[in-house]
Parts: sequence; C-alpha cells; structure tokens
Amino acid sequence: MMSNVREILITREELNKKVKELGAIISKDYKGQELMLIGVLKGGFVFLADLIREITIDIDLDFMSVSSYGSSTKSSGVVRIIKDIETNIQEKHILIVEDIVDTGLTINYLKGIIMARGPKSVKVCAMLDKPSKRKTNIELDYKGIEIPDEFVIGYGLDYDGKFRNLPDLCILDSVAYQK
Ligand code: PRP
Repeated sequence: MMSNVREILITREELNKKVKELGAIISKDYKGQELMLIGVLKGGFVFLADLIREITIDIDLDFMSVSSYGSSTKSSGVVRIIKDIETNIQEKHILIVEDIVDTGLTINYLKGIIMARGPKSVKVCAMLDKPSKRKTNIELDYKGIEIPDEFVIGYGLDYDGKFRNLPDLCILDSVAYQK
C-alpha cells in the first residue's frame, strides 16, 4: 500500500459490483432512447470507462472539463468550462457522469447549463456521494455508494494531482496534507 494511504474504504471488487448494477439499470431505463453520456473530467474518467462497458444499449459519449475559480467559487457554485462538449444535444437524453458529489455545486451548475441547451432530458449519475458536505438539493438519479466525510483518493480521485491510478477507493493519510 502506498505510504499516503491510511486505509482502503471501498475495494475494487465492491466498486466493480456497484458499477455493474448501475450499468444494468441505465441500460434498462434508456432502452430504445438516444442516450448520450457526458463525462466530467478529470476525476470521472475511471468510473465512466468502467460504466460504459456495463451498458448494453447504444450510447454517444462526450466530455466536459471544468475548474472552479478557487475557494470563492466553491461556495458560489460557478465553475469555469475548460473543455465543452462538441455535440448537438437537442435530440438526446443526457446522463452526466461524475466520480463524486460533495457540495453538489459543480453538478448543479453543469446540469443547469446543459439543460439550457434543450436536450430531451438531463439526469445525473455519480459513483460516490458524500451527503454530509451537501450545499444544494441536487437529485442524484443514479447513485453508487455513499461515503463518510473523509478525504478519499483513488478510482480517479486525486490529492494534489496524484493517486488517481489507485484501483481501490482509499482514505488519504492526514500526514500527507500536513507536510
Ligand atoms: C471533483 C469531482 C466533482 C467535484 C465535486 O472535481 O470530480 O467534479 O469535485 O465537488 P462538489 O460537489 O463540491 O462541487 P475536482 O474539482 O476535484 O476536479 P478533478 O475531477 O479534475 O480532480
């Protein structure tokens, strides 16, 4: 185990099981419809890569990359779009795919701007949910696993740009951010 990992919170096997369940439900719910998944970079890419391989219907895929303007933005909920989708979404059902929802401000903002573009529907799928941090009442239509208020890394999530490649979801050792 890497020295910055305090413990494993969710094993790769548990993550995999939940992703399979989500993929099966999404495949059933959107059967016969034009579904486009929008992955939110960077953290969401690992979950998205696993999720699409559990979806058994035809899908389109695009990505957005967003960044907050620092701490003031985290509280205002405004995010800066670094990379936008390249697709016309008016005839599509949209599923936004996130690795984690904490305050809910990022997903709330993203959902708003995507809805304004007039797709048939917009729903949200998040692998990890940290409800103790919530500042909005955003609805998670597809939710993986609820987690406690710990600093988690791995499965796409980083600390200072690192640890996204850990296959299990881990808790960061507090020593790492006291350095
Ligand atoms: C994370 C995550 C969500 C957001 C959730 O991204 O991927 O986009 O934070 O937080 P919120 O619910 O409080 O808004 P982050 O800003 O860490 O960027 P990254 O995915 O590029 O690592």
